[in-house]
Amino acid sequence: EKGEFRHFMLKEIYEQPRVMQAVLEGRTASGRLLEQAFGSEAGAIFDQVKQVQIVACGTSYHAGMVAKYWIEELVGIPCMVEVASEFRYRPVVLPEGTLLLTLSQSGETADTLAALREVKDRVLATLAICNVPGSSLVRESDLCLMTNAGPEIGVASTKAFTSQLVALMLTTLALGRRHGLSDETETELVAALEQLPGLLQQLLALDGPIEQMSAHFAEKHHALFLGRNVLYPVAMEGALKLKEISYIHAEAYPAGELKHGPLALVDKEMPVVAVAPRNGMLDKLKANLQEVKARGGELFVFAGCEESVQSEPGMQVIHLPAQPSILDPIAFTLPLQLLSYHVAVLKGTDVDQPRNLAKSVTVE
Ligand code: F6R
Repeated sequence: EKGEFRHFMLKEIYEQPRVMQAVLEGRTASGRLLEQAFGSEAGAIFDQVKQVQIVACGTSYHAGMVAKYWIEELVGIPCMVEVASEFRYRPVVLPEGTLLLTLSQSGETADTLAALREVKDRVLATLAICNVPGSSLVRESDLCLMTNAGPEIGVASTKAFTSQLVALMLTTLALGRRHGLSDETETELVAALEQLPGLLQQLLALDGPIEQMSAHFAEKHHALFLGRNVLYPVAMEGALKLKEISYIHAEAYPAGELKHGPLALVDKEMPVVAVAPRNGMLDKLKANLQEVKARGGELFVFAGCEESVQSEPGMQVIHLPAQPSILDPIAFTLPLQLLSYHVAVLKGTDVDQPRNLAKSVTVE
């Protein structure tokens, strides 16, 4: 039931602090990952993994794209990510030692299941990160890690995505142990994950300012989302949320691609949303933002800390609370979920049941 909330989507956004707790529950102890969380055979399999192939659709695909950055940075092994509808229909090369990692909220997505069935006999092992116990994906995979987010009713995926990200960080830790990730770093990362419930609770306090910001989008027909590095897939997820529930055409670009084409679209009718953390990429992103402003584009920035960027004419900034940078993809997602939600409410769309879409895509 929706309880005090107007829509399931809003309820599910607000459930995220609790969901973060649920996905971590029983998976860590004394600052370390408990590998049994993946099942009793997981350790022997993880020992042999030489690369990871991630396959998923939609929002789950975006979670997979975030994991590529994490796995290549923290584990140091190759990680490929592909949408299932492409992967299943081409002769893919799967080097020895490939772990096939499928991501799915429902565990019943036709293309993801077909991709799994297509290659399961040609890979070292299959791991499903999934939210529905007993789903086809879980039953047909060698290993699984449940996201424990509880039923997701809104068609637009919210808490399932952030819980997938936590599950993917746990997977990164399991693989990292075997490739030189130190105990100290693991403990640091687990400590960061344990801050998530509190952090997401703080982020929900941005709901008011984000609702005000949403008024600038309701009359527009297009929007651009920019991010770099691990926040590029987060920008993609922000754009997908806006299109599916508000029907505003939105596209995401890695900020560095702006001048390779999309800058031609920018004028005062094209709001640009940027996610700007405080890492080394910030200065580059700032230069990109100036390019947008110079063309009359209105900027809406979600920034990692007070010092990074300030509001000025043509640029509204919402600052996120300080947090360990490894949590950036999760932290920056929640405000973008709220933004698309409020824009959709202003436009009067059917938020929980957007036109033409089904919660579970069981046919291709
Ligand atoms: C977007 C959305 C879809 C799903 C996609 C995959 O909000 O919900 O893009 O993410 O259909 O679904 P699952 O994760 O169930 O495989």
